[in-house]
Amino acid sequence: MRAHPAGPLHGGMTPPPSVGLPPADLGALDPQVWPRSAHRVDGELHLGGRPVTELARAHGTPLFVLDEDDFRGRAADFATAFTGADVHYASKAFLCGQVARWLADDGLHLDACSGNELAVALAAGFPAERIALHGNNKSPVELQLAVDAGIGHVVLDSFDEIDRLVPLAGARVAAGGAPVPVLVRTTVGIEAHTHEFIATAHEDQKFGFSLATGDALTAAVRVIREPALHLSGLHSHIGSQIFDTAGFEAAAHRVVGLMGQVHQATGEVLGELNLGGGFGIAYLPDDDPVAPGDVARRLRTVVAAECAALDLPVPRLAVEPGRAIAGPGTVTLYEIGTIKPVRLGSGGHGGPQVRNYVSVDGGMSDNIRTALYDADYTCVLANRTSDAPPALCRVVGKHCESGDVLVRDLWLPSDVQPGDLLAVAATGAYCWSMASNYNYLLKPPVVAVRDGAATEVVRRQTLADVFALDAVLANVPAPSPAIDQPAPEHPVGARS
Ligand SMILES: Cc1ncc(COP(=O)(O)O)c(C=O)c1O
Repeated sequence: MRAHPAGPLHGGMTPPPSVGLPPADLGALDPQVWPRSAHRVDGELHLGGRPVTELARAHGTPLFVLDEDDFRGRAADFATAFTGADVHYASKAFLCGQVARWLADDGLHLDACSGNELAVALAAGFPAERIALHGNNKSPVELQLAVDAGIGHVVLDSFDEIDRLVPLAGARVAAGGAPVPVLVRTTVGIEAHTHEFIATAHEDQKFGFSLATGDALTAAVRVIREPALHLSGLHSHIGSQIFDTAGFEAAAHRVVGLMGQVHQATGEVLGELNLGGGFGIAYLPDDDPVAPGDVARRLRTVVAAECAALDLPVPRLAVEPGRAIAGPGTVTLYEIGTIKPVRLGSGGHGGPQVRNYVSVDGGMSDNIRTALYDADYTCVLANRTSDAPPALCRVVGKHCESGDVLVRDLWLPSDVQPGDLLAVAATGAYCWSMASNYNYLLKPPVVAVRDGAATEVVRRQTLADVFALDAVLANVPAPSPAIDQPAPEHPVGARS
C-alpha cells in the first residue's frame, strides 16, 4: 500500500524509504531521463539553451519547460522506424495548438479522445484526414463534428456508438459524401504493463468490443454490411508504460486472427491494423525502454508471420505513441518553499532516520500521476549543484492533502533551501493534460525552448480566468497585485 500514505508511520502504513543508495553525483542528468538538450553550465541546468533561473524569472513557477527538438526528434524517430506505417500521436498525453502544428508539419497522424481534443487539433489546422477519434462514450455532437470535418477514422467502441454514427454517416452519404471510415476497437484479452503482460480469455473493462465473446466479430460484420460506413480495419490497445514487446506480439496474434474470422465470414480483407500505444519511457535511470526501431521490427515480423499463417495480405500498420513522444522532453520547474525534517523512527528497516519533506509551489494539481498511479519520478536541484552530503527527501506539493506527493523518495543535497529550484524530469505526458484547479491552484504555463529561444506555447492560467467561470465572481476583479503571477523582481533561485 504505497498510494496516499496518510503521513509518517501513520497507522504503520508508511513503508520504509524505497530509495536505494545515494548516487555518486546528486546533480547528474541521466540522458535516458532528461531532455536531449539538458546540460549544466556552471552548475545550473540549461534546457534548449536557456538557463532555468532565467526561465523561472520570466515565466514563474511551477513551469513546464518543453524541449522542442526532443519532442520533434522522438516523433521523427517513430516516423522513421515505422516508415510505410502510420504513427498517430496520442494527444491525450499533451496537446496544444503549437504541438498540433509541429506534428502536422512533421507528417504524423493524431489521435483525439474527445470532441474537444479533436476541436483543438482542427483549430490548429491539423489535417482532418490524419486524425482518428477515440472514446468509449462519444456523444452525437462529437460524432457529428468528426463526420463534418472528414476525419481519417472514427474508432468504434460500442454497439450504441454504431447506432449513433449510422444516421450521421447516412446523411453525409445522402448528400453525396463518402462513407465514414471506421476501425473496430477490439479488446483482445491482453493487459500489458512494464515487463509483464497477462493474457486472459475475457476483458473486464470499458473499452472496445470483446474478442472472446464474439462481439468484435459481430461489430465488424455489422459495419461491413452498413453502406454509410467503411470498415478500414481493426484496433487494439493493451496498456501503458510497456518495456517489452511480448504483449504487443500476443495482441497482434489475436487481432490478426480476428481479421481471418472477418475474412471467412464476409470475404472482406481488412487493410489496416492499429496496435495502439503504451510504449514505455525512462522515468528513472534504471528504466529500460525499447527503442522505436526495435518495436517496429518486432511488430512487423509478428504481423507478417500471423498473416502468412492465415494466408492474408499484410495490412498497413499503425501505432499510437503518446508518452514516448511527449514524456521525456519536458521538465517541470518548481521553487522550494518549505523544508521540514521528519523523524522516521527506526521502523526496524535500518535505513535513514529522517526524511526531509521538501515542499514546492505546485503539486498534485500539475502532476497527479504520483498520487493516482504511484508513479515514480526523479528530480534534481536545478539552479546550482552542491557538494553537500545527500539527504533523504520527499518532494511534496502545497495542496491540502497528505497524498500530494511528487517524488516519493530521493536523495537531494542536504543544503537545499527555500528559493532553490527543483526540476522534475519526464513530465511531458499526462501532467499538464491532467492538471486541475484543486485548491484553486492555477494551471502552469508551458514554455517551448529551442536553440536559446523560449516561447510560451500555453500561458499561465490566471485567477481572473477562474473568476470568469463563477456566477458570483465573474464581475469581481481578481486580487491585485495578482497572487497568481510571479513578482517582477522575484529573486528566483537566489540563495538568501
Ligand atoms: C487507445 C489509446 N491509444 C494510445 C494511447 C497512448 O498511450 P501511451 O501514451 O502510453 O503511448 C492510449 C493511452 O491510454 C490509448 O488509450
